[in-house]
Amino acid sequence: MSFDKDELRDEYPDGTVRLRNPNIELMDQDILYHLALGSGSHDLVEMFGDVKFVCLGGTPKRMEQFAYTIMAEIGHKLPCGTTLHDISQFSYRYSMYKVGPVLCISHGMGIPSVGILLHEVIKLMYHAKVRDPVFFRIGTCGGIGFEGGNVIISEEAVDGNLRNIYELTVLGKNIQRPAKLDKRLVRELKSLADPEDPYDTVTGKTMCTYDFYEGQGRLDGAFCDFTEADKMEYLESIHKAGVVNIEMESLAFAALTHHAGIKAAVVCVTLLDRLKGDQMLAPKEVSDEWQQRPTKLVCRYIKRYLQMKGRLSLDGHGSIAVKSPRRFKLVQQESENYD
Ligand code: URA
Repeated sequence: MSFDKDELRDEYPDGTVRLRNPNIELMDQDILYHLALGSGSHDLVEMFGDVKFVCLGGTPKRMEQFAYTIMAEIGHKLPCGTTLHDISQFSYRYSMYKVGPVLCISHGMGIPSVGILLHEVIKLMYHAKVRDPVFFRIGTCGGIGFEGGNVIISEEAVDGNLRNIYELTVLGKNIQRPAKLDKRLVRELKSLADPEDPYDTVTGKTMCTYDFYEGQGRLDGAFCDFTEADKMEYLESIHKAGVVNIEMESLAFAALTHHAGIKAAVVCVTLLDRLKGDQMLAPKEVSDEWQQRPTKLVCRYIKRYLQMKGRLSLDGHGSIAVKSPRRFKLVQQESENYD
Protein backbone atom coordinates (compact mmCIF):
# COMPACT_ATOMS: atom_id res chain seq x y z
CA MET A 1 0.00 0.00 0.00
CA SER A 2 1.35 3.44 -0.82
CA PHE A 3 0.52 6.64 0.99
CA ASP A 4 0.53 10.20 -0.21
CA LYS A 5 3.56 11.59 1.68
CA ASP A 6 1.43 14.41 3.05
CA GLU A 7 -1.07 11.96 4.49
CA LEU A 8 1.64 10.74 6.82
CA ARG A 9 2.57 14.17 8.11
CA ASP A 10 1.08 15.47 11.32
CA GLU A 11 1.12 19.03 10.02
CA TYR A 12 0.49 20.75 6.69
CA PRO A 13 3.56 21.47 4.49
CA ASP A 14 3.53 25.15 5.58
CA GLY A 15 3.90 24.07 9.24
CA THR A 16 0.32 24.84 10.27
CA VAL A 17 -1.32 22.38 12.65
CA ARG A 18 -3.26 19.58 10.98
CA LEU A 19 -6.40 18.64 12.88
CA ARG A 20 -7.01 14.92 13.08
CA ASN A 21 -10.74 15.46 13.28
CA PRO A 22 -12.62 15.88 9.96
CA ASN A 23 -15.74 17.15 11.78
CA ILE A 24 -14.28 20.53 12.68
CA GLU A 25 -13.93 21.76 9.09
CA LEU A 26 -17.59 20.96 8.43
CA MET A 27 -18.84 22.98 11.38
CA ASP A 28 -20.31 26.43 10.87
CA GLN A 29 -18.38 27.65 13.89
CA ASP A 30 -16.27 26.01 16.58
CA ILE A 31 -16.84 27.28 20.11
CA LEU A 32 -13.79 26.82 22.32
CA TYR A 33 -16.03 26.78 25.34
CA HIS A 34 -13.46 26.54 28.15
CA LEU A 35 -11.38 29.35 26.66
CA ALA A 36 -14.32 31.70 26.02
CA LEU A 37 -13.28 31.98 22.35
CA GLY A 38 -14.86 30.85 19.08
CA SER A 39 -14.03 30.60 15.40
CA GLY A 40 -17.28 32.40 14.50
CA SER A 41 -17.12 35.09 17.16
CA HIS A 42 -13.40 35.94 17.12
CA ASP A 43 -10.89 36.62 14.38
CA LEU A 44 -8.53 33.94 15.66
CA VAL A 45 -5.95 34.45 12.89
CA GLU A 46 -5.74 38.15 13.75
CA MET A 47 -5.60 37.47 17.50
CA PHE A 48 -3.29 34.46 17.61
CA GLY A 49 -1.72 34.00 14.15
CA ASP A 50 1.71 35.20 15.36
CA VAL A 51 1.95 32.72 18.27
CA LYS A 52 5.10 30.57 18.33
CA PHE A 53 5.26 29.36 21.94
CA VAL A 54 2.46 28.05 24.16
CA CYS A 55 3.45 27.82 27.83
CA LEU A 56 1.13 25.95 30.18
CA GLY A 57 1.32 25.88 33.97
CA GLY A 58 -0.96 24.94 36.85
CA THR A 59 -2.41 28.10 38.31
CA PRO A 60 -3.75 31.36 36.85
CA LYS A 61 -1.52 33.42 39.17
CA ARG A 62 1.63 31.56 38.14
CA MET A 63 0.84 32.02 34.47
CA GLU A 64 0.12 35.72 34.92
CA GLN A 65 3.52 36.04 36.64
CA PHE A 66 5.10 34.04 33.84
CA ALA A 67 3.53 36.41 31.30
CA TYR A 68 5.13 39.42 33.02
CA THR A 69 8.48 37.60 33.26
CA ILE A 70 8.58 36.63 29.59
CA MET A 71 7.44 40.15 28.65
CA ALA A 72 10.51 41.61 30.40
CA GLU A 73 12.81 38.89 29.03
CA ILE A 74 11.89 39.36 25.38
CA GLY A 75 11.51 43.12 25.66
CA HIS A 76 7.88 43.01 24.58
CA LYS A 77 6.23 46.39 25.16
CA LEU A 78 2.52 46.92 25.62
CA PRO A 79 0.97 49.96 23.97
CA CYS A 80 0.91 52.95 26.30
CA GLY A 81 -1.97 52.87 28.78
CA THR A 82 -2.69 49.18 28.32
CA THR A 83 -2.06 46.23 30.57
CA LEU A 84 -1.98 42.44 30.27
CA HIS A 85 -5.47 41.04 30.10
CA ASP A 86 -6.82 37.55 30.84
CA ILE A 87 -8.24 36.63 27.42
CA SER A 88 -10.24 33.71 28.87
CA GLN A 89 -11.48 35.51 31.97
CA PHE A 90 -15.14 34.89 31.12
CA SER A 91 -14.65 31.14 30.92
CA TYR A 92 -13.99 31.08 34.69
CA ARG A 93 -11.96 27.90 33.97
CA TYR A 94 -8.55 28.74 32.58
CA SER A 95 -6.54 31.97 32.33
CA MET A 96 -4.78 33.02 29.15
CA TYR A 97 -2.30 35.86 28.56
CA LYS A 98 -0.65 36.74 25.28
CA VAL A 99 2.76 38.40 25.17
CA GLY A 100 3.67 38.84 21.49
CA PRO A 101 4.48 35.34 20.17
CA VAL A 102 4.08 33.70 23.61
CA LEU A 103 0.77 32.40 24.89
CA CYS A 104 0.67 31.70 28.65
CA ILE A 105 -2.22 29.53 29.85
CA SER A 106 -3.14 27.91 33.17
CA HIS A 107 -4.09 24.23 32.86
CA GLY A 108 -5.47 23.46 36.32
CA MET A 109 -4.70 20.21 38.11
CA GLY A 110 -4.48 16.71 36.68
CA ILE A 111 -4.93 14.88 33.38
CA PRO A 112 -8.62 15.65 32.74
CA SER A 113 -8.05 19.39 33.17
CA VAL A 114 -4.94 19.58 30.97
CA GLY A 115 -6.57 17.22 28.44
CA ILE A 116 -9.65 19.38 27.93
CA LEU A 117 -7.49 22.48 27.63
CA LEU A 118 -5.20 20.85 25.05
CA HIS A 119 -8.11 19.85 22.81
CA GLU A 120 -9.13 23.49 22.66
CA VAL A 121 -5.62 24.99 22.43
CA ILE A 122 -4.68 22.59 19.60
CA LYS A 123 -7.89 23.63 17.79
CA LEU A 124 -7.00 27.25 18.50
CA MET A 125 -3.61 26.71 16.80
CA TYR A 126 -5.43 25.23 13.80
CA HIS A 127 -8.03 28.01 13.51
CA ALA A 128 -5.36 30.69 13.98
CA LYS A 129 -3.11 29.05 11.33
CA VAL A 130 -0.18 29.07 13.74
CA ARG A 131 2.98 27.58 12.20
CA ASP A 132 5.18 25.03 14.00
CA PRO A 133 4.18 25.97 17.54
CA VAL A 134 6.26 24.71 20.47
CA PHE A 135 4.43 23.80 23.68
CA PHE A 136 5.92 23.81 27.18
CA ARG A 137 4.46 22.61 30.44
CA ILE A 138 6.15 24.43 33.31
CA GLY A 139 5.25 22.88 36.64
CA THR A 140 6.05 21.41 40.01
CA CYS A 141 6.66 17.78 40.94
CA GLY A 142 7.93 15.44 43.60
CA GLY A 143 11.55 14.41 43.01
CA ILE A 144 12.67 10.78 43.18
CA GLY A 145 16.19 11.05 44.53
CA PHE A 146 16.22 14.84 44.10
CA GLU A 147 15.71 17.33 46.91
CA GLY A 148 13.39 20.31 46.52
CA GLY A 149 14.55 23.06 44.15
CA ASN A 150 16.04 20.97 41.31
CA VAL A 151 14.87 21.31 37.72
CA ILE A 152 13.79 18.23 35.76
CA ILE A 153 13.26 18.06 32.01
CA SER A 154 11.14 15.03 31.12
CA GLU A 155 12.55 12.61 28.55
CA GLU A 156 9.21 10.82 28.39
CA ALA A 157 6.08 10.40 30.48
CA VAL A 158 5.07 7.08 31.99
CA ASP A 159 1.99 5.99 33.94
CA GLY A 160 1.91 4.35 37.39
CA ASN A 161 2.82 1.02 35.73
CA LEU A 162 5.81 2.55 33.91
CA ARG A 163 4.00 2.39 30.54
CA ASN A 164 4.86 5.16 28.12
CA ILE A 165 1.22 5.49 27.04
CA TYR A 166 -1.80 7.62 27.79
CA GLU A 167 -4.85 5.38 28.01
CA LEU A 168 -8.40 6.65 27.80
CA THR A 169 -11.78 5.09 27.25
CA VAL A 170 -13.57 6.19 24.07
CA LEU A 171 -16.99 4.71 23.24
CA GLY A 172 -16.35 1.95 25.76
CA LYS A 173 -13.01 0.99 24.19
CA ASN A 174 -9.54 1.58 25.58
CA ILE A 175 -7.48 3.85 23.36
CA GLN A 176 -3.72 4.06 23.86
CA ARG A 177 -1.59 6.98 22.70
CA PRO A 178 2.22 7.13 23.01
CA ALA A 179 3.27 9.81 25.53
CA LYS A 180 6.34 10.96 23.60
CA LEU A 181 8.24 14.20 23.97
CA ASP A 182 10.66 15.85 21.57
CA LYS A 183 14.16 14.48 22.26
CA ARG A 184 15.97 17.33 20.55
CA LEU A 185 14.03 19.91 22.56
CA VAL A 186 15.09 18.07 25.75
CA ARG A 187 18.75 18.35 24.71
CA GLU A 188 18.40 22.00 23.71
CA LEU A 189 16.79 22.88 27.03
CA LYS A 190 19.40 20.96 28.99
CA SER A 191 22.18 22.80 27.14
CA LEU A 192 20.71 26.09 28.36
CA ALA A 193 21.15 25.19 32.04
CA ASP A 194 23.70 27.53 33.57
CA PRO A 195 26.51 25.64 35.37
CA GLU A 196 26.50 28.54 37.85
CA ASP A 197 22.89 27.80 38.85
CA PRO A 198 22.76 26.78 42.54
CA TYR A 199 20.69 23.69 41.65
CA ASP A 200 20.84 20.75 39.23
CA THR A 201 19.02 20.57 35.92
CA VAL A 202 18.58 16.92 34.98
CA THR A 203 16.66 14.80 32.48
CA GLY A 204 14.83 11.53 33.04
CA LYS A 205 11.50 9.73 33.01
CA THR A 206 8.51 11.44 34.57
CA MET A 207 5.82 9.36 36.21
CA CYS A 208 2.35 10.86 35.80
CA THR A 209 -0.42 9.73 38.15
CA TYR A 210 -4.16 10.30 38.40
CA ASP A 211 -3.94 11.25 42.06
CA PHE A 212 -1.66 13.18 44.40
CA TYR A 213 -2.07 10.97 47.48
CA GLU A 214 -2.61 7.21 47.06
CA GLY A 215 -1.64 7.39 43.38
CA GLN A 216 1.77 8.81 44.30
CA GLY A 217 2.27 6.41 47.21
CA ARG A 218 1.72 9.00 49.94
CA LEU A 219 1.05 7.84 53.46
CA ASP A 220 -0.73 11.09 54.41
CA GLY A 221 -3.94 11.07 52.35
CA ALA A 222 -7.41 10.51 53.80
CA PHE A 223 -6.96 6.83 52.94
CA CYS A 224 -3.93 4.56 52.92
CA ASP A 225 -4.00 0.76 52.59
CA PHE A 226 -0.24 0.18 52.34
CA THR A 227 2.71 0.39 54.69
CA GLU A 228 5.73 2.67 54.64
CA ALA A 229 7.81 -0.36 53.57
CA ASP A 230 5.46 -0.97 50.58
CA LYS A 231 5.75 2.66 49.60
CA MET A 232 9.55 2.68 49.76
CA GLU A 233 9.80 -0.57 47.80
CA TYR A 234 7.67 0.94 45.02
CA LEU A 235 9.49 4.29 44.94
CA GLU A 236 12.90 2.57 44.92
CA SER A 237 11.75 0.32 42.07
CA ILE A 238 10.57 3.20 39.88
CA HIS A 239 13.78 5.07 40.70
CA LYS A 240 15.75 2.07 39.42
CA ALA A 241 13.64 2.13 36.25
CA GLY A 242 14.82 5.68 35.54
CA VAL A 243 11.94 7.73 37.01
CA VAL A 244 13.26 11.00 38.43
CA ASN A 245 10.02 12.77 39.28
CA ILE A 246 6.24 12.37 39.72
CA GLU A 247 3.52 14.80 38.71
CA MET A 248 -0.03 14.73 37.34
CA GLU A 249 -0.20 16.16 33.81
CA SER A 250 2.71 15.03 31.62
CA LEU A 251 1.07 11.86 30.26
CA ALA A 252 -1.83 13.67 28.58
CA PHE A 253 0.36 16.64 27.69
CA ALA A 254 2.98 14.47 25.94
CA ALA A 255 0.43 12.19 24.25
CA LEU A 256 -1.91 14.88 22.92
CA THR A 257 0.84 17.18 21.64
CA HIS A 258 2.58 14.18 20.03
CA HIS A 259 -0.71 13.08 18.41
CA ALA A 260 -1.14 16.60 17.01
CA GLY A 261 2.46 16.65 15.69
CA ILE A 262 3.39 19.50 18.02
CA LYS A 263 6.89 19.78 19.49
CA ALA A 264 6.61 19.83 23.28
CA ALA A 265 8.60 19.68 26.52
CA VAL A 266 7.86 19.35 30.23
CA VAL A 267 10.07 21.27 32.67
CA CYS A 268 9.30 20.98 36.39
CA VAL A 269 10.87 21.94 39.67
CA THR A 270 10.96 19.41 42.51
CA LEU A 271 9.21 20.51 45.73
CA LEU A 272 10.59 17.63 47.83
CA ASP A 273 12.39 14.31 47.56
CA ARG A 274 9.71 11.62 47.78
CA LEU A 275 12.33 9.12 48.98
CA LYS A 276 12.53 11.26 52.12
CA GLY A 277 8.93 12.23 52.80
CA ASP A 278 5.42 13.12 51.65
CA GLN A 279 4.65 16.58 53.00
CA MET A 280 5.75 19.82 51.39
CA LEU A 281 7.61 21.59 54.16
CA ALA A 282 9.54 24.33 52.33
CA PRO A 283 8.49 27.85 53.40
CA LYS A 284 6.35 29.70 50.84
CA GLU A 285 9.04 32.21 49.87
CA VAL A 286 11.47 29.34 49.23
CA SER A 287 9.05 27.35 47.10
CA ASP A 288 8.06 30.56 45.25
CA GLU A 289 11.71 31.06 44.31
CA TRP A 290 12.05 27.39 43.29
CA GLN A 291 9.09 27.79 40.96
CA GLN A 292 10.96 30.53 39.08
CA ARG A 293 13.62 28.00 38.08
CA PRO A 294 11.86 26.04 35.29
CA THR A 295 10.45 29.37 34.12
CA LYS A 296 13.98 30.76 33.72
CA LEU A 297 15.02 27.83 31.53
CA VAL A 298 12.01 28.15 29.25
CA CYS A 299 12.53 31.93 29.05
CA ARG A 300 16.14 31.34 27.98
CA TYR A 301 14.94 29.01 25.21
CA ILE A 302 12.32 31.43 23.92
CA LYS A 303 14.68 34.38 24.11
CA ARG A 304 17.41 32.54 22.25
CA TYR A 305 14.96 31.47 19.54
CA LEU A 306 13.66 34.99 19.04
CA GLN A 307 17.20 36.39 19.09
CA MET A 308 18.22 33.94 16.35
CA LYS A 309 15.19 34.93 14.29
CA GLY A 310 15.89 38.64 14.89
CA ARG A 311 12.49 38.98 16.55
CA LEU A 312 13.52 40.28 19.95
CA SER A 313 11.74 43.62 20.30
CA LEU A 314 14.01 46.14 21.92
CA ASP A 315 12.52 49.31 20.51
CA GLY A 316 9.75 50.01 22.99
CA HIS A 317 7.21 51.66 20.71
CA GLY A 318 3.95 52.38 22.44
CA SER A 319 5.14 51.92 26.00
CA ILE A 320 5.79 54.71 28.48
CA ALA A 321 9.33 55.78 27.63
CA VAL A 322 11.01 58.07 30.14
CA LYS A 323 13.37 60.65 28.64
CA SER A 324 14.21 62.57 31.81
CA PRO A 325 13.40 60.91 35.15
CA ARG A 326 13.50 64.36 36.90
CA ARG A 327 10.97 65.93 34.54
CA PHE A 328 8.90 62.74 34.50
CA LYS A 329 8.60 62.93 38.31
CA LEU A 330 7.69 66.63 38.18
CA VAL A 331 4.94 65.96 35.67
CA GLN A 332 3.61 63.13 37.82
CA GLN A 333 3.63 65.32 40.95
CA GLU A 334 1.88 68.10 39.04
CA SER A 335 -0.84 65.70 37.96
CA GLU A 336 -1.30 64.33 41.47
CA ASN A 337 -1.71 67.85 42.93
CA TYR A 338 -4.17 68.95 40.27
CA ASP A 339 -7.68 69.42 41.75
N1 URA B 1 3.14 17.76 42.34
C1 URA B 1 2.86 16.45 42.40
O1 URA B 1 2.07 15.92 41.62
N2 URA B 1 3.47 15.70 43.37
C2 URA B 1 4.33 16.24 44.26
O2 URA B 1 4.82 15.52 45.12
C3 URA B 1 4.60 17.62 44.17
C4 URA B 1 3.99 18.36 43.21
